[in-house]
Amino acid sequence: MISVQLTQKKFWENDVECYIFLMTENLESASDLATLDKVENDFYPHVKEILKKHKFNGKHGQNFVLTAMHDSSEGSKKLVQFMFVGLGKLNNSWHRELELLRRAFAGAIERMKGLVIQNAVVALPDVKMFNVHSAELVKQLTIVAFMADYEFIKFKSDKKDKEWAGTLLIETDPKDHSMFIQALQQGTIIGQAVNQARNWADLPANILTPSELAKEAKQIADEFNLQCTVFGEQKARELGMGGFLCVDAGSDQPGKFVVLEYNASVKNAPTIALVGKGVCFDTGGVSLKPSDSMHGMKFDMSGAAAVIATMKVFAQLKPNVNVVGVMPLVENMPSGKAARQDDIVTFMNGKTAEIRSTDAEGRLILADALHYAEKNYNPEVIIDIATLTGACAYSLGHFYSAIMTRDQALCDTLSAAGKLTGDKVWQLPLEDDYKDAIKSDVADISNTGSKAYLAGTVTATCFLENFVEKARWAHLDIAGTADGVPGVNYMGKGASGVGVRLFVEFVMNYKKS
Ligand code: BES
Ligand code: ZN
Ligand code: ZN
Repeated sequence: MISVQLTQKKFWENDVECYIFLMTENLESASDLATLDKVENDFYPHVKEILKKHKFNGKHGQNFVLTAMHDSSEGSKKLVQFMFVGLGKLNNSWHRELELLRRAFAGAIERMKGLVIQNAVVALPDVKMFNVHSAELVKQLTIVAFMADYEFIKFKSDKKDKEWAGTLLIETDPKDHSMFIQALQQGTIIGQAVNQARNWADLPANILTPSELAKEAKQIADEFNLQCTVFGEQKARELGMGGFLCVDAGSDQPGKFVVLEYNASVKNAPTIALVGKGVCFDTGGVSLKPSDSMHGMKFDMSGAAAVIATMKVFAQLKPNVNVVGVMPLVENMPSGKAARQDDIVTFMNGKTAEIRSTDAEGRLILADALHYAEKNYNPEVIIDIATLTGACAYSLGHFYSAIMTRDQALCDTLSAAGKLTGDKVWQLPLEDDYKDAIKSDVADISNTGSKAYLAGTVTATCFLENFVEKARWAHLDIAGTADGVPGVNYMGKGASGVGVRLFVEFVMNYKKS
């Protein structure tokens, strides 16, 4: 576990095992030069020569550690480490540079962990380089410190008892202490929530069943004073949730429809609804996935995980907006009770759909969830988040979630939130021409887009559009971004927790339209 704290002491006055330096490429900036002079004169003669010899020049991704025995103030000898971390060239767009900073920082945490360094200090980099407020930088770096520390090791017998506990001190200007403390607290809450979402997504479906995830949501509600409603098949039947019921039908694990509510203390606050796909395992149902494609489908509840974790953040950060999180949780299984191809289902809003593939199950449960959210809470904005289509992973890969909406202002706001937080979104079109793809001869719509239209990510959105009437609405497809993000050190191997950082940023800064 990592702990991030602020220090008001001058950098060198901190009594730590390790001093971390974030250096720009070629080591030419004023702060790089000052650092090297100080280390060379006071601690480590010839450090510049040594760095040169070992080709450390501040390139992004470089990390070089030197160890020295140093006379401590009490007269004893003390081991000190100097960690030089390459930020790279800072001549890109501000959001790219911020991302490189996050990664450089995450690299330092990884190294701390690897070398079992218990405490270290790092100076807050010069904000001028990143075009964001210094408190924002503290928040971003705190979040990423937690993300870098995450590992799914619960079931690794050799690792789980050897948990590292390290403290990272960030040197900040004492005169703005309260502002930085707030940023640190926010970053801690957000970083931990991201990791909580990742942990749920990484847990396999024999452990994290719909009932278990619902229990986790209820526990959060009890602990943080959120309203929580959980119901199953019977109530869903009374409400006419044919979409939720037909996906739930095939599994022996009972599905749970979960609603978490955060109510702002201000009067007349607008409401935002977040709706997350929660398929704890997606076999495809009777339209069974081939074995290779089924691998990893424990993560098909990543949307719901992101929403539950985000609700926990709001319970603590208390935005002036009401937020409702709606999570239909099911397991998509084939069985004698499972839905078939050709079945026709009627949703809560009265619309009907022909099931052409039981593997297009996400849209069936989201249809009822979107309508439920709009009907019961009259939200100004609805955002749904789902590992919805393989096509999305193919088209955008792992670095951008797809966003589809007819509300360009909403798209632009979310896109800006993505650039700042690193949870990036890329817009795909949502236009009437695509709507004919989901025409059905026997029902109002079909749950798969016609092959002739291709664009499965967009045609899935056309399906969902039938279940939102008047709210401003955006759909996020996180099929590519929810796990296995390559090359981003702080994302690690498994789940990414995508959506949490984006939602928090969006809601905390939401302005009524
Ligand atoms: N959960 C999958 C989407 C998915 C597939 C995410 C691969 C990540 C990687 C979803 O339920 C699904 O199976 N979608 C089908 C829809 C199709 C049958 C119209 C797909 O994308 O193949
Ligand atoms: Zn599926
Ligand atoms: Zn699915």
